[in-house]
Parts: sequence; C-alpha cells; structure tokens
Amino acid sequence: MAILNKKSSQELIDLEDKYGAHNYHPLPVVLSKGEGVHVWDVEGKKYYDFLSAYSAVNQGHCHPKIVGAMVEQAQTLTLTSRAFYNDRLGEYEKFATEFFGFDKLLPMNTGAEAVETALKLCRKWAYEKKGISENEAQIIVCKNNFHGRTTTIISFSNDPVARKNFGPFTNGFIKIEYDNLVALEEALAKNKNVAGFLVEPIQGEAGVYVPSEGYLAKAKALCEKHNVLFIADEVQTGIARTGKLLAVDHENVTPDILVLGKALSGGAYPVSGVLANDAIMDVIKPGNHGSTFGGNPVAAAVAIAALEVVKEEKLAENAEELGRLFRSELETYIKDSSIATLVRGKGLLNAVVINDTEESDTAWNICVALKENGLLAKPTHGNIIRFAPPLVMNKEQLLDCVAIITNTLKQFEK
Ligand SMILES: Cc1ncc(COP(=O)(O)O)c(C=O)c1O
Repeated sequence: MAILNKKSSQELIDLEDKYGAHNYHPLPVVLSKGEGVHVWDVEGKKYYDFLSAYSAVNQGHCHPKIVGAMVEQAQTLTLTSRAFYNDRLGEYEKFATEFFGFDKLLPMNTGAEAVETALKLCRKWAYEKKGISENEAQIIVCKNNFHGRTTTIISFSNDPVARKNFGPFTNGFIKIEYDNLVALEEALAKNKNVAGFLVEPIQGEAGVYVPSEGYLAKAKALCEKHNVLFIADEVQTGIARTGKLLAVDHENVTPDILVLGKALSGGAYPVSGVLANDAIMDVIKPGNHGSTFGGNPVAAAVAIAALEVVKEEKLAENAEELGRLFRSELETYIKDSSIATLVRGKGLLNAVVINDTEESDTAWNICVALKENGLLAKPTHGNIIRFAPPLVMNKEQLLDCVAIITNTLKQFEK
C-alpha cells in the first residue's frame, strides 16, 4: 500500500488502464483522501467534490460517525449470511421502516440490485394479489431512464451504448415519455396487465430533468385508479439530496415501493434496499429472493448511522437552502453567458446545460478546467454538467464553489 501511494497520478492511471476493464472514462484525477466536502489527489492537491460519488456521499467523505459505526461493527461481526439471524439486522429494519414510514425493508447492496428486487416484487404482487395471468405482467418505465446495469434493467434503457451487444433482453416493459401524464394514462388504459410504474422522481443520469410540478402526485393517483404499483427509484434523489428526505416528499407522494441505495450508507459501504408495506412485501417467501451480503451487520450499523446523520445535521434543510442559492447565483451568471444556457435542479442535485452539441467535448473540457481550478464535476450527457456536492457543505464553501464554476465558465465564453 505504502509503495502504491508513492506512485504518481499518471502511473496509477496507467495501472488502471492496463489491468482494469475499460468500462468507465474517468476524469484524469487520482484521489487518495476525502474529508467532508473535500477530496485530495495523490500529489496532495485539494478539491471540492461536486459529484459525491453520484450522490452517494451526501453525508460527506469519511463522516466520523459513519466510519466509527463501520469500524466498531467490522471488529465485532461482519457477515453471517441470512442463513442465520444477526443482532443488527432487525434493529436496522425497525429503524429504517420507521424512518421512511413503511412496514417492511428488503435489504440489498447496490442500486441496481434494489431496482431488480422492486421489479420482482412488483411482478409477484401482480400475479398473486392483482390476478394477472402468469408471465403477462407489464411494467411501465420512462424513456431516458437510468436504473442500473443489469441485463433486465438495460432491457428497458434507451441508451444505445448501455445496450449494444448485450441482448437478448428481458420482456415485459412498456416505455413512455417521462413527465407525460397523457402517455401514462393511455398506457394504463390500453393494457390490463400493467403491474407497476417505475419512475425516477428526477431523471438524474439523463441530465437532471425535473418533471413538471404535480407530475408525481398525478402519476401516483393514476396508478391508484388502475391498481398499479407506483415504484419510486430514489437511489440518486433520495436521502436529502433534493432538499427533502425523499424527492417524492415535494409532492407528498407515498410510493407503493421505494427503492434506495447510494447515500443509505453515506457512501461508506454498498447498502441498498426496497421498502413496501405488508400487503405487497408479504408475497416474498423464503427462497424467493436473497443476497449473501444483503442485510449484513456492517451494512446495518452503517445505514443506521448514515440516516441518523441526515436528521441530526439537517441535511435536507441545508440542501434546500444551498440549492436555491446555487441556482440563483448561476442564473445571474447565465443571463449574460454565451457558454451556459440554463441551470436546473432541486436541492443540491443540479445541472448546467452547456451551449454546444451533445457530441461536442466542451462540457468535458470545462470539467477538466474545473479540476485544474480545484473542483470536481462530470458531464452526465454530452453537454450537461451535473453539480451535486456533499450535503454537509456550508454557505461560504458553496459561494467559493460558485466563484470557481463561474470563473471557469468565463474561460470558455466566446
Ligand atoms: C436512479 C438510479 N437507480 C439505480 C442506480 C444504480 O445504482 P448502482 O450503481 O448502485 O447499481 C443509479 C446509479 O446511478 C441511479 O441513479
């Protein structure tokens, strides 16, 4: 380890390039330390983290309470599998269900696994409770969705890069326009075999698309009318990111199935889960579904600590306040900008649209320049840059970051 740390950034990039699969295109920065809203590269340069590991590190890097809970549990008991009970899981399930207001939790590890779990749960409910004939269930999804990388999930993606040469795909999905209630109503009316509607309350990966006000509440009402489960994928939007504990809280919507991941552990450990009430979750019986690591004692201890931090440090309130400030400062800049056309988002999940084509490398070049200026962010799609710092940021830091961002954008003004 000590030898590894002495290598330069370039040597470490070369190592990954030679020995790792090329499934990502990272910004050329090699990080070796994180604390709160900051990360440091191997040469010791300090940066503001404005990605938060895709909204996993909402509670800030290496939060002492979360790390403390993890270390203590790791020294006591790490993994039992679900073949046996452990003394942390029940406690975590009680905590998480009360925290989010559901009867039951099904613990998993990654976001994609939790989405898969929600899809399986929804289908099983449809056959056993709704009365849909076997293998006929359909789940409505939205165009430009991002729900993860498994074979079933990419089956209903429309990103050609994520799909090409990974077929054959899983059937049983109907794709409609996002933020289009007429399309949802039509799909529900046309097909009696609809089991669920899977939706991101804000489409994060697609470029932080915030739907029209009222969309989620009206979509939920339509689902209720048709006895269809409303499944909210809050893997990216959940856990205070958008200024409320959940993004659906902005419209007082209670999903039938809630999918969480990422910040459920504050980014310290892979923890995801699906929440639902008994009428849905009780279709799952022993042997139907599982995971060796899901619900392990370390995950349970870490998730409790991570959720406590969200409440204790009022992260949702902070995200709401700083998010407004971020957008208003950026809007002021954008008024006279030729390089940035708009800023959008909710809480501290925001994006700036760059005035160039989807295929251009301008947004990428801006992110490289931001890195040089001490702030890390990444384009989501070609010309859109997502800005999502840890929620433990303070106002002074945010204004410092706004200055870095606007000064960097100025370098690109025509
Ligand atoms: C909305 C949403 N769902 C699911 C996932 C997949 O999560 P994971 O990468 O942990 O599998 C992501 C990841 O970005 C996401 O944004």
